[in-house]
Amino acid sequence: MRKLVSLNPTVQCIGVGSFLGAPDPHVGSTAALEQAGFSARLRDNGLDARWSEIPVAPDDALASVLLRLAEACAAVISRADRPLVIGGDHSLAAATWKGIGRALGSAPGLIWIDAHLDAHTPASSPSGNAHGMPLAALLGEGDPPLVDLPGPPLVPQRVVVIGARCFEPAETERLARLGVRVHPAAEVRERGFAAVFAEARWLMGNGPWGISLDLDAIDPAAAPGVATPVAGGIAVDELLAGLSGALRERNCVGLELMEFDPGRDSGGNTARVVLALADAVSRPDAATLRRWEEGFGARNYAPLPVVLARGEGAWLFDTEGRRYLDFMSAYSATSFGHGHPRLLAALAEQAGRLAVTSRAYFNDRLPRLLRRLTLLTGYDRALPVNTGAEAVETALKAARKWAYRVKGVPEGEAEIIACDGNFHGRSITIVGLSSEPQYRDGFSPFPPGLRRVPYGDAAALAAAITPNTAAFLVEPIQGEGGIVVPPAGYLAACAALCRRHGVLLIADEVQTGLGRTGRLLACQHEGVRPDAVILGKALGGGLLPVSAFLADEGVMGVFRPGDHGSTFGGNPLAAAVALAALDVLEEENLAARSAVLGEILLQRLRELATACPAIVAVRGRGLFAGIEVDPAQIDARRLAEALLARGVLSKETHGTVLRFAPPLVIRREDLEWGLDRIGETVKDWQGREPRAA
Ligand SMILES: Cc1ncc(COP(=O)(O)O)c(C=O)c1O
Repeated sequence: MRKLVSLNPTVQCIGVGSFLGAPDPHVGSTAALEQAGFSARLRDNGLDARWSEIPVAPDDALASVLLRLAEACAAVISRADRPLVIGGDHSLAAATWKGIGRALGSAPGLIWIDAHLDAHTPASSPSGNAHGMPLAALLGEGDPPLVDLPGPPLVPQRVVVIGARCFEPAETERLARLGVRVHPAAEVRERGFAAVFAEARWLMGNGPWGISLDLDAIDPAAAPGVATPVAGGIAVDELLAGLSGALRERNCVGLELMEFDPGRDSGGNTARVVLALADAVSRPDAATLRRWEEGFGARNYAPLPVVLARGEGAWLFDTEGRRYLDFMSAYSATSFGHGHPRLLAALAEQAGRLAVTSRAYFNDRLPRLLRRLTLLTGYDRALPVNTGAEAVETALKAARKWAYRVKGVPEGEAEIIACDGNFHGRSITIVGLSSEPQYRDGFSPFPPGLRRVPYGDAAALAAAITPNTAAFLVEPIQGEGGIVVPPAGYLAACAALCRRHGVLLIADEVQTGLGRTGRLLACQHEGVRPDAVILGKALGGGLLPVSAFLADEGVMGVFRPGDHGSTFGGNPLAAAVALAALDVLEEENLAARSAVLGEILLQRLRELATACPAIVAVRGRGLFAGIEVDPAQIDARRLAEALLARGVLSKETHGTVLRFAPPLVIRREDLEWGLDRIGETVKDWQGREPRAA
C-alpha cells in the first residue's frame, strides 16, 4: 500500500456549500465558518490546517460537484495529508470516500454518524433525491452517477452506522443484507455515544478509517441548522466527548461534517456546534499537552501530573472529565471558586464594553475601584498594578522614596528589612530579600539595602532597625514559607517597634488578605493597622491578575506623575472584575465563612495529626492551613500526588509541608469530603517507605 499516513499531516479543510442533491436544492457557502475560526481551532490544537472551498454554482450538476470533491480528496490523500470536508448535502459523501479510497488504493473503514441511514437506491427512495443514497452508493449499490465515481466501494464489514432514528425498511434490509453494523439512536441513548463510538472505532482495527458525521445526528434543539432535522438525537456534549481527538488518530484518514445549512441556523447555534466539533476532533490528549508544556516551555515549574480543563465552584475537572476538589485555590487567587457567575458576568460585560486604556487617560471603572478599596480597608489611597510581585515592588519603591523625602534618610542609604522564610514574589529585588537559596541562585547581584531577620522574633527586628531603615516588610502568616503563623503578639510588637523608630510597617497580604484567614486582613487578628498593605491574588476574582498597594497620604504622597506605573495596571477590565470580587466577598460574607470553615479544617487536621505521628505540626488560620510531615516518614510531594489520585488538589512546599487553601465558597460537605480523603491518604501512608510511590 502507498504511504498513507504522515507523522505531521496537514488537515485540508474543504468547504462545499452544495445542497444540490437535497429535497430543497440550493447552494451556499461555508466561508463564514472559516471566518469564525474553523481551521484556526485545528491549528490551536497543534494540527497544520488549511482552508479551501469548492465553489458551487446554482446550475452546477451534482455529478460535476461530486467529481471535483472526489478529485480534491484524492489529491489531499496523495500528499499524505487529511481531508476534512465541511458540507453541504450528505450526498457529497459519495465523493469524499471514493476519492480517499482511490488515493489510498483501497477503501477505508467508515463510521457513519447520522439520523438517517442514507441507504436508498433510486428504486427504493420515496423522494428520488441523491440525499438519501450516499451510503448505499459507497457500498456499491444504487444511483450510477454516485456509484460510478472512480474508487473502490466500502467494505461493509468495516462500515458502522451510529445514531439512526429515521429510515425506511428497504434501507435497513439493504444494510443488514450487506452486513453493515447499525447502532440505532435508541441504543446510543442507552449505552452512551462514547461507548458505541469506541466499539465502532475498535471495529476499524489498524487500517485506515474515517468519520462521516451528518449534523442531523445531533438533537436539533442544539443544532437546528441542518437540511432535515429529526427530533431527538445525540447530545452535543456527549458527541464532543466521544469524538475527542479522533482526527489526531494515526489512521483516521478523513472526516466529514455534513449538512451544515447556514440558512436554517438563525441563532448561529449550529455554527457554534461545528466549531466545537473542530476543536473536539483535533483536541490533544493529556499526555500530548504535558509533552508540549515540557518540550516547548521553560522548565521553571514541576507541576503535579494532572491537566485541568474546567472548573466549577470548588471543583476542577481534568481533560478526561475526572473531578478534583480544589484545596489550593491557585495560592488563594481563586478564593471565590471557579466560574463564579457574578464575576463571569462582570468580566464579560466589561470586556465587551472597554478592556484596556492605559493610565494615559481616566477610565470610568478604576475610580470606582479605588474608592471602594480605600473605603473597605481604611487607607487614603490605592495604587493598582497587576501581579503581586509588582505590588511588592511598588511598596519597596514607595518605602525608599518615603525614607528619602519624608524620613530624611540620606539618598542611597535606605534599608528594607524582611523576614527569613518570606515569599514576596520573583523580581530581582524581591528574591534579593529571600532567604531561599534556590530563589536567589544565579540571579545576583541584588540591590543593596536589603536585610533579613528571623520571622516571629520581634527582638531581632528591634536589633536590626537602624536610622536608615525605611520599612519592615512582613507576611502576617508565611504561606510559601510553610503556613507559618507567628507567635501571638508578634505583629503588634513589630507595629509598636516600627512606630517608635519611624519605620513603615508594610504587610504583604497578597495571599492572606481578602478574607482568607477569617478576617478581611490577617493583621486584624492582632488589631494591627500597618502603614501600608499589599493585596493581590483574590482581588482579581480568580480571573485576572489584579493587585494593589494601599497606604495613607503620608506615604503614597511621595509618588508624582511619571514616578511609577504599569500599562495594564488599573485597566477598566481589571477594575470591573475586582469590584465584583469585593462585592462577592462582602455579600457572601466570605471572611466569616472562612473563619467558621477554617475551624473545621484545623480541628480535623489536628485530629488527624493525633492519629498519625508522621504529621509533626498543623498550622493555619481560617481556610489557610498546612500540615508539616516528618520527611523520614512521608515525602510531601508524594503525598500531594497520592492526594491527587484520590481527587484532592493540594501542593507541597519545601518538601515537608502540604498546604490547604480551599476556595472560601467551598460547601461544608465538600470540605469534609476533602478532609476524609486527606485522612485516608495520610493513614495509608503510615509506615510506608517515604520515597516509594
Ligand atoms: C505573600 C505573597 N506576596 C507576593 C506574591 C507574588 O504574587 P505574584 O505571583 O502575583 O507576583 C505571592 C505569591 O505567591 C505571595 O504569596
